[in-house]
Amino acid sequence: RRVLVLNGPNLGRLGSREPERYGTTTFADLVAECEKTGAELGLQVEVRQTDDEAELVGWLHEAADGKLPVVLNPAAFTHYSYSLRDACAQRTAPLIEVHLTNPATREEFRHTSVVAGVATGTIAGFGVDSFRLALRAISSLTD
Ligand code: DQA
Repeated sequence: RRVLVLNGPNLGRLGSREPERYGTTTFADLVAECEKTGAELGLQVEVRQTDDEAELVGWLHEAADGKLPVVLNPAAFTHYSYSLRDACAQRTAPLIEVHLTNPATREEFRHTSVVAGVATGTIAGFGVDSFRLALRAISSLTD
């Protein structure tokens, strides 16, 4: 079963981006970890990242049309992108919102997720493990 793992803006800079907050794991490491976890679960994981809202919306349309489960870290779009929310609302397969950090412990503007209300569930605060846990959730929801 195919699963899309979609990442929003600035996540391509993991490893060098505020390492004290986001850790030293690089985006390439994150891709490898997701693929490894996917293989263990029998899932064919495809990891993508973009800084572009339109591209991310397009990938969600692709997931909706293909009925593909999604693990989504919307990054800063989480907090304000209604177009991303509306794209998430169109799919029928599970969609797990993930965050490396726990936005609820951070600045006030991060306490709102416009995506949460149209996600199957949210996993936040466990670093790269947030992605592993989300893939497990997809696996148990789809088997
Ligand atoms: C993030 C949290 C967001 O608030 C932030 O804008 C990000 C990363 C996370 O994974 O912790 O870019 O989604």
